[in-house]
Amino acid sequence: MGKMSLKVGIVGLRGIGNQHASCHMADELAELVAVCDVVKERADEAAEKHGVQSYGSVQEMLAAHPDLDIVDVCTGGDENGGWHYQPTMEALTAGKHVLVEKPISNDITEAREMVALAQKQDRYLGCNLNHFFTEPADEAAQLIADGKVGEQIYCLHRMGFVGGEGSYGGPMGNANAKDFPYFHVKAFLAHPFSIMRHFCGDITHIQAFLSRPGFRQAASDPMLSVNSIHCRFASGAVGYLFSQRGDATMGYGGWWSVEVGGARGTFIIENCVEKLIFQPAPGMGGAADPAKLNLGEAPKAVETNSGETDFNVTFGHRIHAFLEDVTNDVPKHKLRASGRDALASLEYTFATIESYENDGALVHPNALPSLERAPGVE
Ligand SMILES: NC(=O)c1ccc[n+]([C@@H]2O[C@H](COP(=O)([O-])OP(=O)(O)OC[C@H]3O[C@@H](n4cnc5c(N)ncnc54)[C@H](O)[C@@H]3O)[C@@H](O)[C@H]2O)c1
Repeated sequence: MGKMSLKVGIVGLRGIGNQHASCHMADELAELVAVCDVVKERADEAAEKHGVQSYGSVQEMLAAHPDLDIVDVCTGGDENGGWHYQPTMEALTAGKHVLVEKPISNDITEAREMVALAQKQDRYLGCNLNHFFTEPADEAAQLIADGKVGEQIYCLHRMGFVGGEGSYGGPMGNANAKDFPYFHVKAFLAHPFSIMRHFCGDITHIQAFLSRPGFRQAASDPMLSVNSIHCRFASGAVGYLFSQRGDATMGYGGWWSVEVGGARGTFIIENCVEKLIFQPAPGMGGAADPAKLNLGEAPKAVETNSGETDFNVTFGHRIHAFLEDVTNDVPKHKLRASGRDALASLEYTFATIESYENDGALVHPNALPSLERAPGVE
């Protein structure tokens, strides 16, 4: 007999909640049983589509379904994270595992409390940091594990929305974004920081410059949409992140590219789901000889195309990974894209803001809670 499926309830049924609902419906490890939204009609519509129960609040959903295993929090709120705390805390208090959308919260104190409560309750808290649940990211992680990258020297990451003055439609009018200068910083940087940390480990130093192009300033748009961030990793490697929200187009690698350079080889991922390029470092045969203006030559790069172009596949992949980890009862500290991992991204985000507010000063992000491994667990 196969493994029992996990009973799932979703909170917040707008664009993203409905996307999660389809993923759970298509996944054999999940059984979607209930949905809720404070705007009840939104829950009703999704419930009807999937043949599940509908509620107007998290409390009602929890009370009616004491056997729920997982609560999937797809609410938005201020800076797309203001309404994550309450439903997450309620679900964890009720003893449920939680998958929460990113950013874990728009408030660092709340995020720390969420991670602490999950640990206290001994429940899984995962975050939908979906961008590294892809074929190219898996292959890149394998290159690192196989020692083909070697000591990491640098990480260059660009992620954002392509655009320019011609596609600018004025300040965002949506209530989650309107009047929040840090909307892009808080709502979006969860993703690129999670990628850099996934491949290169913890970040210990951050310096940031944030700005707005002239066309935003002319429209009195408060959003600090241009984010230029320099960092250093605990490993000693250095890194650079450029993110923007439709202010310029992006050349090489499209809307999403990462390059991690190591002493033995360098990999590049283009367009998130699409392409991996591995460039081995030259041996003595390709060594540089500056005296002869010879810059050195590396062996031929190896390029792998996944054949995938649809970013939305990352939702199903990431949700499946969470369902797998819960089904397999993995040790809590081995949960992929955990609440603690999401907290790391948010600590870097708050360090970014602090640096910007202090004219680009060097900031050390707050240390993460220790990874408390249960006794006897490897
Ligand atoms: N991982 C990704 O690639 C990705 C992409 C886009 C958006 N997101 C994230 O997804 C989340 C949701 O985005 P959205 O655009 O669907 O948000 P939204 O704000 O449009 O919708 C949220 C819904 O949640 C409901 N809600 C809020 N608080 C609630 C509560 N306590 N109980 C019940 N219902 C509640 C609201 O009524 C609304 O219908 C955001 O956090 C956003 O950052 C993630």
